[in-house]
Amino acid sequence: MKVLAILYNGYKAAEEEPALLGTVENKLGLVEYLQSQGHEFIVSSSKEGPDSDFEKHIVDAEVYISTPFHPGYLTADLIAKAKNLKLCVTAGVGSDHVDLNAAVKAGIQVLEVSGSNVVSVAEHVVMSILLLVRNFVPAHEMIERGDWQVSDIARNAYDLEGKVVGTIGAGRIGYRVLQRLLPFNTKELLYYDYSALPAEAAAAVKARRVEDLKEFVSQCDVVTVNCPLHEGTRGLVNTELLKHFKKGAWLVNTARGAICDKDAVAEAVKSGHLRGYAGDVWNVQPAPKDHSWRYMKNPLGGGNGMVPHYSGTTLDAQARYAAGVRSILQNYLEDKPQDPGNIIIGKTGYETKAYGQR
Ligand code: NAI
Repeated sequence: MKVLAILYNGYKAAEEEPALLGTVENKLGLVEYLQSQGHEFIVSSSKEGPDSDFEKHIVDAEVYISTPFHPGYLTADLIAKAKNLKLCVTAGVGSDHVDLNAAVKAGIQVLEVSGSNVVSVAEHVVMSILLLVRNFVPAHEMIERGDWQVSDIARNAYDLEGKVVGTIGAGRIGYRVLQRLLPFNTKELLYYDYSALPAEAAAAVKARRVEDLKEFVSQCDVVTVNCPLHEGTRGLVNTELLKHFKKGAWLVNTARGAICDKDAVAEAVKSGHLRGYAGDVWNVQPAPKDHSWRYMKNPLGGGNGMVPHYSGTTLDAQARYAAGVRSILQNYLEDKPQDPGNIIIGKTGYETKAYGQR
């Protein structure tokens, strides 16, 4: 059996830090296991274009292991060429880089290591909310420049206490964000999700559901995006929806870049309609050098909390998703049932309710 993994390069960092398991160098710790069973294991970061290792090897691979941090986009065209492909495993959470509808048609199973990095992301969300609301980034940049002008920072710094915070998506990550925000004494915690939280779970975090998205955003001082990318969420936060945001709201998106319209967000930050935007996910990864989200600033010179896609790839998370990938492979090879929570597409189609209402 041929197993293909497209991972990100770790270079010197991965040689010095073996716990960087999700890198090309450290190969999710799977080499011995797969080779001892006589399987061929190809690992590369080369993923763009017909000469890439991805496109070369996908045609006869049976298993494709991918990472959202350096996504090898498995399009419908590539699925049509991948005649042997039976299983896609996402080393992490979020399988939108696979054309899921095409995978269903081709009978390819798609699994991810659900839950493996949800705390990692929830912590990053809370950090991002705080750094925007408290105007942290320009304050730190001022210190590095050798300057000291408290009023220039304080004029756009607020407390999170007393604000309304809402999450689009209240699944594993969204719910953990609400749990972590509870002690901040916000005015209210809101959520928007087509799946309602069980009553006890909503009560435990004192969260109120708002069923209309425009109404939801119009009530929030901070919006955090925690739903998967699918047909129903691509471009969800666009110029039209942004009009319904409170003027000066903050937006945090660690879910997927393409859920927010790139130009609409950059424009809203530039005009000050959004006081800030933060996250780690981009519509294209790696993001090109001239991507507007790298440089956008609000009229007071702050409001940008963008980082590369790493919130879900802390060393703690890597240990969990590497172990999870191995267990999915073992179940597959030994014909044992998979953990139902990990199945996005099973043998007969979608098994998750999180990738849109069907
Ligand atoms: P989950 O499946 O536990 O929860 C997703 C929730 O979103 C579900 O409750 C679902 O009903 C809801 N949802 C789906 N479509 C929606 C819509 N149109 N409007 C409102 N809610 C909607 O998933 P989990 O573990 O919370 O992860 C969510 C996403 O976060 C992943 O799909 C992935 O894209 C992203 N993620 C990002 C990471 C990073 O490193 N930045 C790491 C892990 C996940």
